[in-house]
Amino acid sequence: MTLILGLESSCDESAAAVVAGDGRVLSHKLAGQEAAHRPFGGVVPEIAARAHVEALPPLIEAALAEAGVSLSDVDAVAATAGPGLIGGVMVGLVMGKALAFATGKPLIAVNHLEGHALSARLVDRELRFPYLLLLVSGGHCQLLRVDGVGAYARLATTIDDAVGEAFDKCAKILGLGFPGGPAVEAAALAGDPKAVPLPRPLHGSPEPHFSFAGLKSAVVRAHEAGVHRREDIAASFQAAVIDCLLDRTRRAIANAGSIEALVVAGGVAANGPIRAALTGLAHAHDLRFVAPPLWLCTDNAAMIAWAGVERLAAGLTDDLDVPARPRWPLDPDAEAARGAGVKA
Ligand code: KG4
Ligand code: ZN
Repeated sequence: MTLILGLESSCDESAAAVVAGDGRVLSHKLAGQEAAHRPFGGVVPEIAARAHVEALPPLIEAALAEAGVSLSDVDAVAATAGPGLIGGVMVGLVMGKALAFATGKPLIAVNHLEGHALSARLVDRELRFPYLLLLVSGGHCQLLRVDGVGAYARLATTIDDAVGEAFDKCAKILGLGFPGGPAVEAAALAGDPKAVPLPRPLHGSPEPHFSFAGLKSAVVRAHEAGVHRREDIAASFQAAVIDCLLDRTRRAIANAGSIEALVVAGGVAANGPIRAALTGLAHAHDLRFVAPPLWLCTDNAAMIAWAGVERLAAGLTDDLDVPARPRWPLDPDAEAARGAGVKA
């Protein structure tokens, strides 16, 4: 049985995991850095990189111990090689390279987004290519047709903010704290989603993409007006996001060709109302709906180890001089979307 050690360090989670070729997660260890970044209201890249240096070695030891294996039992080391905050990516990738070099095992440089994209196949072993993936995280908001390992067609992306970024900014504006997504979701529970009229950018547009900057500005104005409860703003914001995600995903389903399933992945996929809305959309189109469990939606190393399983099975390993990449689109052939600050 293949055994892969996975490492993740692209943002503010340090993580190590051991996953078997048949999809058993033998261990997954994670150390968040929320307390270190909270005073700044967002992730500080330099603090994150230093924290990964300290956190990863004990996490790796703990992951191996919990899995009941030693480094020499592992068949390959998979490490996130991008995209992400470059200092942190370098820390995890260099550790992965060192372990691969010391043990003589292959290195697998994993695209963090491919980790999210393939995580659904870790939990649903029946899931076949091609499927439509809605990837919603702090740095990305994309619709991709997943044709196979390493084979992606990007159907849509955001022309400004990522959806998780919009949640985080909304939380900051409303003073709900950091990280923002879970805080907005919790506040929305006590709010009226129809209380505050907010825009649905690009809803119904013939172009395929997402946009959230206008929604964020509308949240600023609603907050500054001083007449709305922040729970109502949070609920109305979340409702607007859901409308946009459904509209854009519906359009992509119509243009994706033959697909079997709708898959959602990335940190924002942890949001209950978003999952519920997407479940309804998938079923209305006779598609299976697959969403990883919550712990696998947010950043973790099990998804990186699993991407390693899939890539090793496809014969895709990397040389020890493979670079860390701050930007690394899954579909390098995708046309540039209009707008500034596009998250490829
Ligand atoms: O995938 P992820 O853990 O890290 C990135 O690769 O970006 O995603 C983190 C993002 C953050 O913006 C966070 O606010 C958002 O996912 N998020 C949520 C929820 N949980 C995490 N957004 C909405 N609702 C949630 N429950
Ligand atoms: Zn992520």
